Amino acid sequence: MRCDVPADSYQATFAPNTKWTSPYAEGADIKAYWENVAAKYDVRKYIQFNTNVISANWSPEKTRWILEIERDGVRQTEETDFLIMATGHFSTPRLPNYPGIEDYTGHLRHSSNWDPNFDPTGKIVAVIGNGASGLQVVPQLQKVSKKLFHFARSRTWIAGTVAGDVLGQDNTVVRTKEVPQDPEGYVAYRKNIENRLFSRWAATFKESDTNKDAKTTFEKLMADRLGDRKDLLDAIVPDFSPSCRRLTPGPGYLEAITKENAEYVPARISRFTATGIETVDGKHREFDAIICSTGADTSFAVPFPVVAFGTDLKPAWRPGGTPGFPDSYLGIAAPSFPNFLILLGPNAIENQITYVAKILRKVRREGIRTIAPTRKATDDFRAYCESFFPRTVMSENCSSWYNGGIAGGRIHGIWPGSGTHANFAKREVRWEDWEYTYNNTQGNRFAWLGNGWSVRDVESAAGNEDVEFTQYLREEAVGGEVDLKSYHEDWWGA
Ligand SMILES: NC(=O)c1ccc[n+]([C@@H]2O[C@H](COP(=O)([O-])OP(=O)(O)OC[C@H]3O[C@@H](n4cnc5c(N)ncnc54)[C@H](OP(=O)(O)O)[C@@H]3O)[C@@H](O)[C@H]2O)c1
Repeated sequence: MRCDVPADSYQATFAPNTKWTSPYAEGADIKAYWENVAAKYDVRKYIQFNTNVISANWSPEKTRWILEIERDGVRQTEETDFLIMATGHFSTPRLPNYPGIEDYTGHLRHSSNWDPNFDPTGKIVAVIGNGASGLQVVPQLQKVSKKLFHFARSRTWIAGTVAGDVLGQDNTVVRTKEVPQDPEGYVAYRKNIENRLFSRWAATFKESDTNKDAKTTFEKLMADRLGDRKDLLDAIVPDFSPSCRRLTPGPGYLEAITKENAEYVPARISRFTATGIETVDGKHREFDAIICSTGADTSFAVPFPVVAFGTDLKPAWRPGGTPGFPDSYLGIAAPSFPNFLILLGPNAIENQITYVAKILRKVRREGIRTIAPTRKATDDFRAYCESFFPRTVMSENCSSWYNGGIAGGRIHGIWPGSGTHANFAKREVRWEDWEYTYNNTQGNRFAWLGNGWSVRDVESAAGNEDVEFTQYLREEAVGGEVDLKSYHEDWWGA
């Protein structure tokens, strides 16, 4: 499996690898990259491995989170001032819950939990699901299996490869073009790819010309790749617009399902048996192995109980709960959940880490005991989302992780705007949207001003002659080369 987004634009901004072996990196390369970044910044010393969080309860008395954890098999509790959820979108793989699944005696796996000892060569294999994962698994298994069946209960658009116009449509190639290795050249190369990803935003809107163009382009691309298999084209092309669900390039997928040893099965599954799968049309097929590319729990509810003031977000944010969806402030926090922050949560993107760092710095600097977004700010964000998403094709009748798998349902898996829009929206924390309590016993917000002495004053008075009082005086100002917009905003960091 490989990432269908170009590797050069799917890595940390602060640690660019300029030497990816393929424009679309394989899992092992991505793992090695992140291991290198972790080693470079020595982050392992902050991580407690082999630790499973069972629950988190807010203690109003202690103003702390009480975590019940299991470390190396031993249950214990831990107290923390902040709880930051970084459990991600797809961390809880979901096997389908068809009747009889536990009776199946062949090899059964979720594709995100691939068994490296399983050899599909010469076997009769079923793949369930046609999201980004299923479309990547099918062509690989079709090549080696005796017979491959693809169960796809929903139609889907197969898009061109991301940035395929510059990188080519075959995502399995090793790098052919020389990628510039000097900083200026590499950044220009990366910008060219990354700008393409950002510039696709207009196609998200209903009835937009760009969405109509995408539809025509994808229809033609799919027809070309399916050749004379018009029956497959008719079975796969959806009645919803492209980008309703995440676009999936699936290189080699359409070609694979036209092969003699492959069968596309749009019929819904009714049950599993000891030997295979039965579909609602009464057909039973037998398999040596069933690979479920059935995605993850995308309710975006927290994966373990997170309880404050009598509310547990785990059931509350799931369908059937109250409110039944992740009712978050900017995808970052929740009202009445103090000192609780979410990374990559509902309606979110990666720049949240900087946002969270700003909050933590302020909390430490200003003696803040608790911080939580206000109900009103959260309601206003919700109202914005509710007026925004219906204008986009994401609200059409398709099932996706944007809507938690509920076709036409509320969109909560993605930020309500473009990537650039999200970057600007979260550039500064809107402090007026939060409510605070303070460490100081009188609750005085200015207790942190202390006795009027800064640490530098104290050190200087104690005789330290090296104390720097004038960080705002910079050599470049003498040459007249300062940026007046930022000169007096960042001197204190020096
Ligand atoms: N960058 C990459 O290369 C890459 C690769 C893989 C994944 N990803 C990321 O991960 C996301 C998730 O991808 P994913 O493919 O793992 O999951 P997904 O997009 O959520 O797709 C899950 C698939 O399983 C099907 N499914 C779920 N439950 C089923 C059931 N009970 N019976 C039959 N079919 C069932 C769904 O059908 P319905 O649509 O009918 O519900 C859907 O086709 C992607 O959108 C992407 O963001 C990225």
